Amino acid sequence: MESEMKIIELSRKTPNFAKIIDEIVRMEKKIFPKHESLASSFNEELKKNNSGLLCCLAKDGDVAAYVMYSWPSSLSASITKLAVKEKYRRHGYGEALLKAAIEKCRGRNIQRVTLHVDPLRTAALNLYKKIGFQIDSLIEGYYSSDRNAYRMYLEFDTNWLYGTSQA
Ligand SMILES: CC(C)(COP(=O)(O)OP(=O)(O)OC[C@H]1O[C@@H](n2cnc3c(N)ncnc32)[C@H](O)[C@@H]1OP(=O)(O)O)[C@@H](O)C(=O)NCCC(=O)NCCS
Repeated sequence: MESEMKIIELSRKTPNFAKIIDEIVRMEKKIFPKHESLASSFNEELKKNNSGLLCCLAKDGDVAAYVMYSWPSSLSASITKLAVKEKYRRHGYGEALLKAAIEKCRGRNIQRVTLHVDPLRTAALNLYKKIGFQIDSLIEGYYSSDRNAYRMYLEFDTNWLYGTSQA
């Protein structure tokens, strides 16, 4: 990741919080189809005390990428959203943010991180595999009647290192 980028954890105390959320909502609408979009629920999600939002900011404050995660139980967490603005893709930001979210989960002593991804999202699928996520199952009609999802998981063990988990 280039040094002029920084990853921050968003909270209502973050300077420019409202502006950053507006930009994330704009990205969400642009990148994801309506039924997959969290655009209308970001504020609600953030009010929950078991979810977190990290974002990657460029030097000029532009939001380059964001990742949302939640921990419904003390044992497992899920990555609920990950997106990188088109002009910033393929510079390592997606990977850096995903790893940062996983570190946050590990810090909570969580054993397993899960996520859902459309098998047609090749970039995302490759990224998750690279980090060590494994495919658990295919869920037909998960996003809509004609869009499926892989459920994927990453299990931590004492020897776990990024990208070295074997499928
Ligand atoms: C998926 C996404 C977050 C990747 O972000 P990124 O910053 O471009 O990815 P990185 O540069 O960190 O790449 C990390 C790895 O991801 C995979 N990857 C990323 N872009 C890829 C592409 N276009 N084609 C194939 N693999 C790709 C590669 O394994 C890459 O590792 P490598 O550089 O060693 O080959 C980004 O493409 C995106 O926002 N896509 C649209 C939204 C989306 O699909 N989100 C996931 C929903 S579940």
